[in-house]
Amino acid sequence: MAEQLTLDPHADKNGRYEELIPQIEALISSEDDLIANLANIAAALKQSMDFFWVGFYLARTPDMLVLGPFQGPIACTRIPKGRGVCGTVFERGETLVVADVDAFPGHIACSSDSKSEIVLPAFKDGQVALILDIDSDKLNDFDEVDQRQLERLMRMVEARLP
Ligand code: SME
Repeated sequence: MAEQLTLDPHADKNGRYEELIPQIEALISSEDDLIANLANIAAALKQSMDFFWVGFYLARTPDMLVLGPFQGPIACTRIPKGRGVCGTVFERGETLVVADVDAFPGHIACSSDSKSEIVLPAFKDGQVALILDIDSDKLNDFDEVDQRQLERLMRMVEARLP
């Protein structure tokens, strides 16, 4: 298993994802443990894309997300279905891109430095099994490139779900 990521420092955002995602795939393909894989994915995204906070929330019951592996400042541990951006993605089962978190009704402010975010679901047997939450300290930092590439990554995570 490669233990170092190789990325072209001059590549644009799409180029960085194009280089990173196959390396993440290689990283998780030989490991069955979900927590180990999510931990490495969070670290790989944080170090390669320079996000403010990257982490997973796991659907521990049909109505509650619980904090999983993450990189960044400490975060709230439980998010009920329907609350904040993460709870809304859990409820709707679709990706949300939020350009300004302060304008999102019910946003849970784990850190006042977080300005925009993208949250994506991963499914098991038609139910949301976990979500990936990425926060930026810049407004409007996520676009359709992030959404397309990170959705690709989530399909990869789904394939490794126990
Ligand atoms: N922003 C999230 C809460 C989780 S933290 O940002 C890590 C939300 O409103 O769902």
